[in-house]
Amino acid sequence: MISDGAPSAAQPVIELIDLHKIYRVGTELVYALRGTSLKIFENEYVAIMGPSGSGKSTMMNILGCLDVSTKGIYRLRGQDVSRLSQSKLARIRGRQIGFVFQSFELLGRTTALKNVELPLRYSRTRHRRRRALDALERVNLADRAHHRPNQLSGGQKQRVAIARALAQQPAIILADEPTGNLDSATGEEIMDVFDTLYAEGQTIIIVTHEDHIAEHCRRVIKLKDGQIVVDTSRSPGGPPATPDEAPTDADRPGAAVS
Ligand SMILES: Nc1ncnc2c1ncn2[C@@H]1O[C@H](COP(=O)(O)OP(=O)(O)OP(=O)(O)O)[C@@H](O)[C@H]1O
Ligand SMILES: [Mg+2]
Repeated sequence: MISDGAPSAAQPVIELIDLHKIYRVGTELVYALRGTSLKIFENEYVAIMGPSGSGKSTMMNILGCLDVSTKGIYRLRGQDVSRLSQSKLARIRGRQIGFVFQSFELLGRTTALKNVELPLRYSRTRHRRRRALDALERVNLADRAHHRPNQLSGGQKQRVAIARALAQQPAIILADEPTGNLDSATGEEIMDVFDTLYAEGQTIIIVTHEDHIAEHCRRVIKLKDGQIVVDTSRSPGGPPATPDEAPTDADRPGAAVS
């Protein structure tokens, strides 16, 4: 059992075992996740889909160490992070998770470069300027490094956000509706960036409502009422994932990528 967060080839990056999340609102209980089990391996490219209220954001928040489950186990790179304190979760989040949000979440008054650099300061990463510039280069935005967000297009803003996620060399990139605020052509450009990162070996999980976004991914997981009802994979270059009805405790590697 690896406890220091070091990666290993045979080990899933993410492992959820019978995860439950119950929110309490006054006297009412909301069962947002109801026994979810899941493994995601290194260099998977996963779409999480499902109707509104099915538990997608709840799952993303737990995967991203922004929240903890009520019951069940979450292992991130072999480390049990199910019941860690907020401060320990924050440290893991800073090192292992790159977030990309629908609304970009950039600091408005500061340059693209500073936006990418700032989280590295919190995690005390060395060579921050170089790392930030490299990340901007990877999303083809080195020539906009000194622009502020209001001097960038929507697609460019999202590419800055992806560079910010990449700069800390995270174990996973978690993107919640990353194309939701973009027109369809710009959305496709952003998906091209994710496709390239996937081809370079990055593990990526994207929440989306849109089939044409999910078609970029190699594995599609569908949630309904807090349970996984579909979990399908496809091989690179193969046809789009066709939904199979899966057992509710779907727990398969899904790593059709060879
Ligand atoms: N903080 C909270 N407190 C109480 N209930 C919550 C909370 N967050 C989510 N819920 C409830 O949990 C269920 C799952 O919500 P969640 O936000 O995960 O859905 P979602 O699949 O992301 O939906 P959407 O597509 O609308 O974003 C819903 O019934 C929701 O009302
Ligand atoms: Mg949501």
